[in-house]
Amino acid sequence: MPRGGLTRPEALDSNLDVSGMVDPDGGLVDRRIFSDTAVYRQEMRRIFARSWLFIAHMDQFQKPGSFFQTYMGEDPVIAVLNKKRQVRVLLNNCRHRGARVCRADEGATKNFICTYHGWAYDLDGNLVDVPAQEAYASDFNPADWGLVSAPRVESYKGLIFANWDANAEPLEDALGDMKWYIDAFMDRDPEGTCVVGGVAKWVLEGNWKLAAEQFATDWYHVNMSHASALMVLSPTGKGPKKEIAMRTGVQFTDDRGNGAGFPVHPRNRFDAQPVHEYYDYDFLRERLSPEQVMGPLTNGHATVFPNFSYLPVNGSIRVWHPKGPNKMEVWSWTVLDKSMPEEVRRAQRLYNLRTFGPSGIFEQDDGENWSECQANAHAFMIGNTALNYQMGLGTETQRDGFPGTTSGLYSDAAGRGVYRRWRELMSTPAWHETPAENQAADPAELQQEPLGA
Ligand code: FES
Ligand SMILES: [Fe+2]
Repeated sequence: MPRGGLTRPEALDSNLDVSGMVDPDGGLVDRRIFSDTAVYRQEMRRIFARSWLFIAHMDQFQKPGSFFQTYMGEDPVIAVLNKKRQVRVLLNNCRHRGARVCRADEGATKNFICTYHGWAYDLDGNLVDVPAQEAYASDFNPADWGLVSAPRVESYKGLIFANWDANAEPLEDALGDMKWYIDAFMDRDPEGTCVVGGVAKWVLEGNWKLAAEQFATDWYHVNMSHASALMVLSPTGKGPKKEIAMRTGVQFTDDRGNGAGFPVHPRNRFDAQPVHEYYDYDFLRERLSPEQVMGPLTNGHATVFPNFSYLPVNGSIRVWHPKGPNKMEVWSWTVLDKSMPEEVRRAQRLYNLRTFGPSGIFEQDDGENWSECQANAHAFMIGNTALNYQMGLGTETQRDGFPGTTSGLYSDAAGRGVYRRWRELMSTPAWHETPAENQAADPAELQQEPLGA
């Protein structure tokens, strides 16, 4: 990191041994991991500063200068398409006194001009104009004062991720078996996917992990938490039939903390009728595989560790931005297949709005639960009482047709996987804790493949 001759007392960044706070093999979690500020600061250093973090969908960058402002952990970043049609991810923070250089959510620009004193940066983050530069000494070199950029930006099926660790394993390796499950959502259409309707953003009282682990592992809550929503959507108004409510299915977990779960049935279908009628399931079986169509193509939930999640049935992708131990900001996009005709797009978009997003009847149930679990996590007796993640302990197995380690639909296997990965990263020094030579990287060299829009 560009710190020149500055040094800092180690105590300011000291790490805790948190390895005993989760027990993935026994299915136990210490509630203080959701409420403790020191644990949270360590997550920023050891999880968010070194993991592949979702940035945006490729469709958001149409021409050089297109930009989108988001966060990596709590750091504001600008994703921008440069003149070589590469997506660059720049720390949105002026090198002079630290104001943001971009305050718009998204748009198009030629450069980013800080509104404090006027330092201007180009689309690659180079400092290209300094008002009254003659007042600086002659050895002041603007080339030393460009915006900090993420050394690694890679994409998979239209999903752009970035990583602060120059030596991180490639995105596709980090996704591993999870790619097969993502494909069932993002690779139905040979034309690819697009995003519509902007990004919905809202704040929830709850630790980011509550949402991330639920989307990785939790079908269990559906019948209870969403009982009224299921009742409203059922044709009779009396709720779904028992065989729909108690479905069988598969849960996927891996050693990277990724997770997905979904019912498996030969006649799985999309919930919105026009969307169901639009899809040619035989074509999809051929393009993907019968197992993907029976399972993760439609209903289900998934998380790419740490904080990117999605729901295939309504085309919702979302990030759980951490905002301190007790709060998260949810950002949600609607993704559609590019070939969908207008009326099907509309049906899918409206179905998404009705069910998920800030006004969605399912989303509100979920947010309520996370806030409920968070509300008293800081209290003494509650904070000292372990939580139970023991559903499906020991059921992890290989299953024909479904890559990776699997468990049943009703299982905490992927939740235990989230916390196993959490413990591993929280207990291992990250790139910025190692000597400076491991940190240097030329982003222009690392990002060899232009992410063309
Ligand atoms: S803080 Fe940006 S120019 Fe001074
Ligand atoms: Fe839910």
